Amino acid sequence: MRFPEDVPVLTDGVVTLRAHTVDDVEPAYRMCQDPVMQEWTTIPVPYLHEHAVNFLTEMVPNGWRTNTMWAWAIEYDGRYAGTIDLGDGEGGVGEVGFALGPEVRGNGVMTRALKLAVRYAFDGLGWDRVIWRAFVGNYASRRVAWKVGFRELVRVQGGGRTRGSRKDEWVATLGREDELEPQGNWWSVPELEGNGIRLRGLRDSDAQRVQEACSDERTQLWLSGMPSPYRLEDADGFIKTRLHMMASGEGVAWAIADPATDQLLGNVSVFHLNNRMDATMGEIGYWMHPDARGRKVMTSAVQLLIPHAFKPVAEGGLGRRRLVVKAAEGNSASAHVAEANGFTHVGTERAAIPRRDGNYDNDLIFDLLADEYAAR
Ligand SMILES: CC(C)(COP(=O)(O)OP(=O)(O)OC[C@H]1O[C@@H](n2cnc3c(N)ncnc32)[C@H](O)[C@@H]1OP(=O)(O)O)[C@@H](O)C(=O)NCCC(=O)NCCS
Repeated sequence: MRFPEDVPVLTDGVVTLRAHTVDDVEPAYRMCQDPVMQEWTTIPVPYLHEHAVNFLTEMVPNGWRTNTMWAWAIEYDGRYAGTIDLGDGEGGVGEVGFALGPEVRGNGVMTRALKLAVRYAFDGLGWDRVIWRAFVGNYASRRVAWKVGFRELVRVQGGGRTRGSRKDEWVATLGREDELEPQGNWWSVPELEGNGIRLRGLRDSDAQRVQEACSDERTQLWLSGMPSPYRLEDADGFIKTRLHMMASGEGVAWAIADPATDQLLGNVSVFHLNNRMDATMGEIGYWMHPDARGRKVMTSAVQLLIPHAFKPVAEGGLGRRRLVVKAAEGNSASAHVAEANGFTHVGTERAAIPRRDGNYDNDLIFDLLADEYAAR
């Protein structure tokens, strides 16, 4: 192919992919000074002016001429906004990479650009599959890939390479026959307020309170799967993995907070939302910080989230038909939360919960059905 004459111009009317020009060097250089860009991509750091010149005037044209990389400038609002490229393609499979200047992010630009690029990969280059890769934690990139229909996301430990070291990465792919539509749910965490409490998303700054709550003797006794000792880094990990839980459609976790101080009082989650046998059920799990127990806070928190859990997905809810609470026999505080919210004790799984001393507790099963809740 000749550059720039043969570079196809692709547009959806809002975003246009076109050949790079020397005028893009300046804005591309500025974009690469952004710390977010440096954190999530493999560009050289420090990023020098000559890096931008070399990339746009040597590597990009050579990529088109040698059929090894197909990179476009993303034009939005009459200006250069970023770059998207397809690379490799051997055996009909190649990779996509993209970046946008910070001032343009959050307007759906990359979602549009990625749709244009993958359609070209299939229809223009004849590929069968496009691979998306991102360092673990790059939720903006993951969301773009999810919105365009990339699927079967996996985590590859040490799979990403960055300036001489390795990082864990996410990988997902899109096939020629796949619809360019999101697969599965990416749950949001609506703020729910009432009953003198606030349910909100967990934050990094909650880590200390999470650690205190989860190292407490009673939490450790009844939730025997928790790390012991429970360190601050376990709390950090817990908070970070809640994002993955929501992005994968597996569940939603709220911090229960004091509305006046916003301090974390406990945690409540609905999970198992991808249950293969029954994707309409959800299990509720919880724990309280010891200094907030005994004031019916958890009963109120579960009461607040039930309507959200039963609300249809199209209306922003979790679309559940059946909710379950499980409590080890003997954990009367936990069983009380379920019963106070109208759950029915429907059975007991015998010797079902391992204890740290090697014995097993019976597990009391409570459930609540959407139609019985609606009929109240
Ligand atoms: C990734 C990137 C290209 C996204 O560009 P963009 O134009 O902002 O993308 P879009 O607006 O099409 O979509 C971004 C989505 O992610 C969401 N998002 C952004 N940050 C997020 C975060 N930390 N957690 C969850 N979602 C996030 C946005 O809300 C938006 O979703 P919505 O439209 O449903 O609200 C841009 O952030 C970027 O250039 N980052 C630095 C370079 C980079 O990471 N490149 C990819 C390497 S794999």
